[in-house]
Amino acid sequence: MNNALMNDEAQKKSVLIPDQNYYKDIFHQHSNDEYSEAIQLAQDRVSDFLKNNQKPFSGIRPDEMKAKVENVDLDTPLPDYESLLNEVDELYVKHATAYHLPEYIAHLNCPVVIPALAAEVLISAINSSQDTYDQSAGGTFIERKLIDWTSKQIGYSENADGIFTAGGSQSNLMGLLLARDYYSLEYQKWNIKLDGLPPDASKFRIFVSDKAHFSNHKNAWILGLGEQAIVHVGVDARYRMDPKQLEKAIAAEIEKGNIPVAITATAGTTDFGNVDPLTEIANIAKRNNLWLHVDAAYGCGLLLTEKYRYLLNGIELADSVTIDYHKSFFQPISSSAFIVKNKLHLNIIKHHADYLNPKEQDYDALPAQINKSIIQSTRRFDALKLWFTLRYMGKEKLGQYTDTIIETTQQTAEHIEKDENLELLCHSDMGVLVFRYVNGLDQANYCNINQYIKEKLFFSGEVLVASTKVNGNFYLKFTIFNPLTTLNDIKNILNLIKQNGNDYQQLN
Ligand SMILES: Cc1ncc(COP(=O)(O)O)c(C=O)c1O
Repeated sequence: MNNALMNDEAQKKSVLIPDQNYYKDIFHQHSNDEYSEAIQLAQDRVSDFLKNNQKPFSGIRPDEMKAKVENVDLDTPLPDYESLLNEVDELYVKHATAYHLPEYIAHLNCPVVIPALAAEVLISAINSSQDTYDQSAGGTFIERKLIDWTSKQIGYSENADGIFTAGGSQSNLMGLLLARDYYSLEYQKWNIKLDGLPPDASKFRIFVSDKAHFSNHKNAWILGLGEQAIVHVGVDARYRMDPKQLEKAIAAEIEKGNIPVAITATAGTTDFGNVDPLTEIANIAKRNNLWLHVDAAYGCGLLLTEKYRYLLNGIELADSVTIDYHKSFFQPISSSAFIVKNKLHLNIIKHHADYLNPKEQDYDALPAQINKSIIQSTRRFDALKLWFTLRYMGKEKLGQYTDTIIETTQQTAEHIEKDENLELLCHSDMGVLVFRYVNGLDQANYCNINQYIKEKLFFSGEVLVASTKVNGNFYLKFTIFNPLTTLNDIKNILNLIKQNGNDYQQLN
């Protein structure tokens, strides 16, 4: 018997006379025991992760990590869940970056709240897709209610609408897409969705500050405008968009024959955590008939706090807003939203498919979230995590976390300013501080020494800090994103930074 025949026979046997094994592994009405066992074992590993990972990182080098993963033969399945989880421990869990530890103070990764983790169990197992009512009945209305709630926090009227997305970059893309298409429809009577870009699309201009997130640049390219469409507006001493320079930049582009279309203001810059002056920018947008998108991917946490909510004053004047719940609402990845002030603008995105959301359907009677989604058809029910969070913890508690983070950051900034071995670049509205070690070296060496400190700490696994460049110079960056982190924790981290700085000097 040749191999092909044998395979055929074996297949017939397993399909026509299924054995016990055939029914295993698929999540179905009789698989509760296996499901419970697998989830319990996975959950045990999470407990081990909390217990055993006492440093934010193991310090493993990329070549060692790569070899471990490459050694796995994906075509030879493991015999049981225990072996599977043992393997995953070695390949992933032991070396996973622990965002929940105070010594993780690097990127915009928040610790997550437990109710949202409980929601994840339901989300992944029940696996609803948010396209249409027939795929997610309660999910459709839960998502809608959370979008309405978020719109209200922004200060929008009931005329607002939006959708959960995979992240801030995608939400920003939706903002610029609507800005581009709205401009063309309204002022050029040109329908980009149907006809492609208008002949003068290469003249479209989008204004962002020097410190805006890079997704603006990528999105301009994705939208067919090219990165050349992005105009960088100068910033003030706290790296916020300078409204005077914005006005000048708009005038200069008009003078050149270009076509201003949109402004993206940033509420909470990635590098400094500062909020652009939203009201002034909104007034400029209005005067010039420009779409204003506010990227509040990071700054959205300010919606939660009474004490610091004023920092977002003017956000309600924007045409659209990006919210990253997976940043400042302490949600597990992914969880983000795009919110638009005038829900009619979302009609630009609608596309009908006979099998899913036919044109003739009454969407008030039988809703379909797919009508508002730009690139995801199948879409996770991420909204349930925020639902669990608000229903169990409430907005106020999340707001307290935000207040604490802001205040710990202010104290840290003052502490750094007082230390003659450290140099702080500027204060933050939220939780990001850019600084460097400066002890006893000439300026030319500052970049090398700070790079050395960052790398040393990273591969020791003891402390993870981020870095950035300002005017070509290398700086260390703290992103304080953990409400349980105290000033003392941060003082310890700063001491380690200084120790490593001293070591560098001894070595060189
Ligand atoms: C200001 C800002 N906007 C947008 C983004 C992109 O968000 P995401 O990583 O969710 O795509 C980030 C990410 O750090 C950000 O800081």
